[in-house]
Amino acid sequence: MITPLSGFAGLVLVVALALALSGVDGSLPTRDRSLRLPNETYPLGYELHISSNIHLGSLLFSGNATIDVAIRQSTNEIVLHAKNLSDIQITVRQVTYSGSMEVVDDLIHTYNPQAAFLIIHPRENYQAFEAGQRYRVEILYTAIMRSRPMGLYWMDYVDESTNRTAYVAATQSEPTYARLIFPCYDEPGFKSNFSIRLTHGINHSAISNMPVKEMQHHGELTTTLFETTPPMSTYLVAFVISDFEHISETYRGVTQRIYSSPRSKEKGQSALKNAVRTVAAMEDYFGVSYPLQKLDHIALKKNYGAAMENWGLITFKEGNLLQQDTGDVHKRVKDKITQNHEIAHQWFGNLVSPEWWSYAWMNEGFATYFAYVITDLLYPEDKVMDMFVSDEADRAYSYNSFFEVRPMTSYVETEKEIMAIFDIITYKRAACVIKMFHHAFRQKIFVRGISRYLEKYKYSVANELNLFDYLQAELLEDEYFRQQPWVHRVREIMLSWTHSEWMPIVLVTRNYENDTITFSQRSIHSKSEHWWIPLNFATAQEPCFEDTQADLFILPQTQHSLTLAELNLQLTGRDWLIVNKQQTGFYHVHYDSDNLRAIARQLQHNHSLIHPVNRAALFRDLKPQVEHTELEDIEVVFDMLKYMELEEDLLPWKQVADTIDFVRRNLFGTASLELFNEFVRHLVTPMFRRLFRDKASGDVSNSALEAGQEILLTACLADLPECQDYTRSLAKEYIFKKVNVTNESEYYAMYDTILCLGVRYLSDKEFYGVIGMMQAADRSSIYYDDLIYSLRCTQSHSHLLYYLDLLLGENSTHQILSDPESMMYLSYLYKSNMEARSVIWQYIDRSYKLLCRSPSFVENFNQIAEFVPRQQTPQFAMLRQRIARYMEAQSLNAGEALIDIDSGLVGKKMKNTEVFVDKYEHKIHNWLIAEVPPMSVQNEAIHSEPLSVGNGSNRPQSLLNTASEVVQKALRSIDRSLYR
Ligand SMILES: *[C@@H]1O[C@H](CO)[C@@H](O)[C@H](O)[C@H]1NC(C)=O
Ligand SMILES: *[C@@H]1O[C@H](CO)[C@@H](O)[C@H](O)[C@H]1NC(C)=O
Ligand SMILES: *[C@@H]1O[C@H](CO)[C@@H](O)[C@H](O)[C@H]1NC(C)=O
Repeated sequence: MITPLSGFAGLVLVVALALALSGVDGSLPTRDRSLRLPNETYPLGYELHISSNIHLGSLLFSGNATIDVAIRQSTNEIVLHAKNLSDIQITVRQVTYSGSMEVVDDLIHTYNPQAAFLIIHPRENYQAFEAGQRYRVEILYTAIMRSRPMGLYWMDYVDESTNRTAYVAATQSEPTYARLIFPCYDEPGFKSNFSIRLTHGINHSAISNMPVKEMQHHGELTTTLFETTPPMSTYLVAFVISDFEHISETYRGVTQRIYSSPRSKEKGQSALKNAVRTVAAMEDYFGVSYPLQKLDHIALKKNYGAAMENWGLITFKEGNLLQQDTGDVHKRVKDKITQNHEIAHQWFGNLVSPEWWSYAWMNEGFATYFAYVITDLLYPEDKVMDMFVSDEADRAYSYNSFFEVRPMTSYVETEKEIMAIFDIITYKRAACVIKMFHHAFRQKIFVRGISRYLEKYKYSVANELNLFDYLQAELLEDEYFRQQPWVHRVREIMLSWTHSEWMPIVLVTRNYENDTITFSQRSIHSKSEHWWIPLNFATAQEPCFEDTQADLFILPQTQHSLTLAELNLQLTGRDWLIVNKQQTGFYHVHYDSDNLRAIARQLQHNHSLIHPVNRAALFRDLKPQVEHTELEDIEVVFDMLKYMELEEDLLPWKQVADTIDFVRRNLFGTASLELFNEFVRHLVTPMFRRLFRDKASGDVSNSALEAGQEILLTACLADLPECQDYTRSLAKEYIFKKVNVTNESEYYAMYDTILCLGVRYLSDKEFYGVIGMMQAADRSSIYYDDLIYSLRCTQSHSHLLYYLDLLLGENSTHQILSDPESMMYLSYLYKSNMEARSVIWQYIDRSYKLLCRSPSFVENFNQIAEFVPRQQTPQFAMLRQRIARYMEAQSLNAGEALIDIDSGLVGKKMKNTEVFVDKYEHKIHNWLIAEVPPMSVQNEAIHSEPLSVGNGSNRPQSLLNTASEVVQKALRSIDRSLYR
């Protein structure tokens, strides 16, 4: 499943529980019970018959779930999941040895809403169900389809040629929604065979996991019966009733079809081609055939997330399956990866399923990682492994910064907890850890282990230990690995990753006197955790980055000092050493300064000797050290940055851009800022020209597009005149000529950035021109929102004051920001635009009598107070005093109080910056003075009129259109991450 929430753990969809369950006898015995199903009984097979009149728009459906149940241990109850099902009638028959059936009398059922349990039990308490016996439980019920994609849900489509509405019903069972469709053992561990039968309108057709077995027409209705599934978890049960059309192709005995609403089917051609290639590639790669005869892919208007991997019937949100008429190359490749993620699930999750949701990562981690691996095999030109780094790994590396952490394997029980486990850790961290061992254990061996594991557990369930044991068995068969001291400890090795929360830093300290290297580890977090960490090495003498298997494991909790001879490395004192080739290992590496200087020399001399992924990794590893002011020797970072003017690869640029931005923000207001900007302009100019002036075609791959935005930001925020002109002319075209900046892929997702950067330095004439356009515009238009939102980026104090007055002033007629949003916007502006900070204090000073009438003034004032630099504390104290007195006099002191002057919170958010400046500023200043080449560009250019709008003349008309949606969204959900 590709969920919309994969970024944020803890953000859980709240399920509206509307329908009460009726038809339930008596009140409930409210004893506390586990939310897990008991295991005394289990299903042997389901016959599920659902009847629907969705073709008439009727949302009611009726069901007959007939379950053959075996009794493992005598018990007084059969417990199933069911939720929001009504009119329940249950008949239980005992299957006798002769095969005949006898109704079991005197049974009733009880419902436990906390656990969503339907409990079948005798009226009198005794062990009605005997070990070794079999029962056939027939449950008749009705229920209502939902509008939201959970359980059985509906959608409507208007046929433009006839204006008739057509209805479609589809399912989403993962993770705990099968119980909304039929009573069942709704846990992944209870695999069973399903025979599904659907009754629907004669002009609709039905598809499900399996191919159609037979169809019977009766009057206006058709009953479609499907082949019985192999043993399968309930969360994969799927069917769709629609009037959709399809295209299909059969290869190696597997028929694949792309279903879409009528008249869209040709848009499915590229998805079909991809699916056929990918299934074959996965069969070959894992050596396990796709086990069903068919695989459908259906494009739905509504789907939970981007796609869901139901066995044999993958459901997609329309826009993620059908080809779009957009220039967005990045999205096209992402869609292909999404489809391949779901195809990978046919093995990881569908064929072998997790024993319980605690192992959801065994589904999602494998599907995420191998979707990239296989896509890369099939389409090397898309460079998707670079995308893996930027779209998956980057998030996993920075995960600690924005949400709660937990180990990959964590016990969950409630529906809410199960939903919440589909997070960044389950997808992205797991993908990174799997990638690490795919490389460390040598790709071939890892894949062979996986292949045997799939064979062993197919049609069944597995836990992490099952997986690890198969990897170990495979390693033991290898000449080289068999001799490694760690080879019998694969469980320990893997568990150190799946049961830890944080990520290690490997500290590499070279002793240049006695030619030894000391390796030690610590966690990125103060919590004490240790790992088995696979290492490998590239050196100046042997600069080969290709072989990524583990040369060495460092053990938890120990320091290893090894001689160069023991490590089999040739190194002189001046030679560089790099650990973690191509950064396939999921950890940071910190080096001693001498080694970093040796690396810096190599970068300047010939950076291409170091693999581009490692060039990026060097900066990724340095970033937290810079941000936490841990480095003693900040100059070495600048020594390393110096070569960037020659860097043509965007991976390192992406990492560097963050560090540059961080340093720039911290140097704001110091004498070093302008020197630093000069240095950055020098570094970024060649890349900026390549991407935006010369438009180096061809090699601007999709992953480049994202990085292109970073380059634009880096260049413009360093006040590179060419960048100012470029963005200003694009912004002015949009603002004054309403030329939408196009569909060109290089602009996609950049509109917001372009508008913001384009209005930073407007002349008075231009600025008031923009204001004029805004005032003339329709208040409810996206265009209006775009203008008002982009003006937040202006750097001119007088323009900022004017802007604030316009938004918040007494005569403001721009009610776009209703209270309390306007106050929130003020603090957002404060945080995002450094230049605005002093202006906002000035503005508050001038207008607090008005501002403090807003109910959210105090809350936002207090937030801003956290950013008061220590040297401004006295002025802040005075202002705060005046406001407090005024509010008291006016009796405005309801609710939250103004922050206390002595509160530790005042200036708290500036502490890091102050530490940074105290520790590094003079060092940076000296380095820049010595190293920055004399000014090559004139600063006045910044404030001049742009030369022309020539760039735009040959551009198709419509970029900012799609863009504005995003801008509007941003305006509404002003970056909340800043508030954590
Ligand atoms: C059934 O559950 C009990 C208690 O949770 C457990 O001890 C037992 O091993 C389980 N039996 C099987 C066959 O899974
Ligand atoms: C329910 O389904 C079972 C199995 O297909 C069938 O034998 C039974 O007759 C059905 N019951 C009703 C009331 O249709
Ligand atoms: C469909 O409805 C639209 C608007 O209600 C109308 O303009 C159009 O002519 C209708 N088309 C047909 C085929 O009836």
